[in-house]
Amino acid sequence: MAEKATLILDGKTYEFPIITGSEGDKAIDISKLLKETGYITFDPGYVNTGSCISAITYMDGKKGILRYRGIPIEELAEHSTFVETSYLLINGNLPTPDELAAFSGLLNDHSLVHEDMKTFFSSYPRGAHPMGILSSMVNALRAFYPEVPERSQEEELNLTVARLLSKLRTLAAMSYRISRGHRVIYPSHELGYCANFLNMMFDSPVKPYVIDYDVVRALEVFWITSADHEQNCSTSAVRHVGSARVNLYASISAGISALWGPLHGGANQAVIEMLQEIRDSGGDPRPFIERAKDRNDPFRLMGFGHRVYKTYDPRAPIIKKMTDKILTKLGRTDPLLDIAQNLEELVIRDPYFIDHNLYPNVDFHSGILLRAMDVPVNMFPVMFAIGRLPGWIGQWMESMEDPDRKLCRPRQIYLGPTLREYIPRDKRIQMKENGEL
Ligand code: ACO
Repeated sequence: MAEKATLILDGKTYEFPIITGSEGDKAIDISKLLKETGYITFDPGYVNTGSCISAITYMDGKKGILRYRGIPIEELAEHSTFVETSYLLINGNLPTPDELAAFSGLLNDHSLVHEDMKTFFSSYPRGAHPMGILSSMVNALRAFYPEVPERSQEEELNLTVARLLSKLRTLAAMSYRISRGHRVIYPSHELGYCANFLNMMFDSPVKPYVIDYDVVRALEVFWITSADHEQNCSTSAVRHVGSARVNLYASISAGISALWGPLHGGANQAVIEMLQEIRDSGGDPRPFIERAKDRNDPFRLMGFGHRVYKTYDPRAPIIKKMTDKILTKLGRTDPLLDIAQNLEELVIRDPYFIDHNLYPNVDFHSGILLRAMDVPVNMFPVMFAIGRLPGWIGQWMESMEDPDRKLCRPRQIYLGPTLREYIPRDKRIQMKENGEL
């Protein structure tokens, strides 16, 4: 007999189906709750809410498991490339060599951005945050690359996906170059996806960029581990905005805006800023830990805690290993790294953090890795956005193909004033003076 959940409301019994996921996760299907009972659920931050059925990413927050299309993140980080992982997330399976070559070729073909977009960049004030610029640039892509009626929907989508994956990387590097007043470097067909990005960022007419393939690999791994994370804040934003049937560019632009926040993708930047603050205050992390534990102080330790992982974030050790390798290879010492290590050791032994299940998340280590690659701190969330893009695209496509798709439109519990009358403007002045308003 199919499992059901029973709800008793006002003496009446209702039954709701139980949905079981392929890894045994259970959910109560309350899609008919309002219609049948007149009640809605109340779940701020959607902590207990499954918003969709998905076959893309599986995560188990208690066991620290993350898999894309069934494949563990550890295996992808070991063997895959970012382009291959993107294909996997978007298309559902790993590509054959021919499919991968065709996909890479398509990305190469669409790597340039319209020259007129450069003028957009120069109009932004110096010092504008690159995430804000990137979000508006991606939205603007739609104006530069509108739909062509002669193309089938499938052709149009494939083209849009290739443009987004390839051009976001070019736009990101352009934003960095222009913000520094440097000449824009064009993408090269001779270089792979990650090497191309590093070259566009750091090549110089006076000092040609020498590609270090260990650094390229570190970037691949960072982007692979960033590529999807099921229904996180930015992915939900992409799905939510997309549910209004807006185009993919606009939906991705919304995702970039959500990712900008320090509680989400902006955390890697916030981690470095926090470590710098600790360094500037003498290097002792303990006062910061005490502040984070004080309920009257809004301060939080950046890079710790996660909505889903209540154990180690499985991406964190992968990035930490890569960071150690790159720092050793480049012969770099980073004083912030010593502070980070000290902070981590103190936090993982502290009863407050143990009791609250707060462990270092991926952002705690990725900031140090990006620093070692000479990426400026305000570009960190942009780096995350490039990595997260294939996940957003795959999730958006899945939502469009969902036969049960609906416009995302949550409800609320209204706690404002009950019915009251409109007070004429002149009467309001009098009432204000009398202290009645
Ligand atoms: N430092 C100190 N206390 C924390 C922290 C932290 N970093 N994170 C959570 N807590 C505490 C809260 O104060 C709260 O304590 P209480 O129950 O005693 O009131 C409890 O842990 C639960 O916190 P919530 O905010 O309810 O948990 P939520 O699941 O909403 O938060 C979040 C997840 C936003 C990631 C949070 O842990 C946080 O702010 N971390 C710092 C920012 C960060 O590193 N973000 C990156 C996340 S990973 C990513 O997006 C890629």
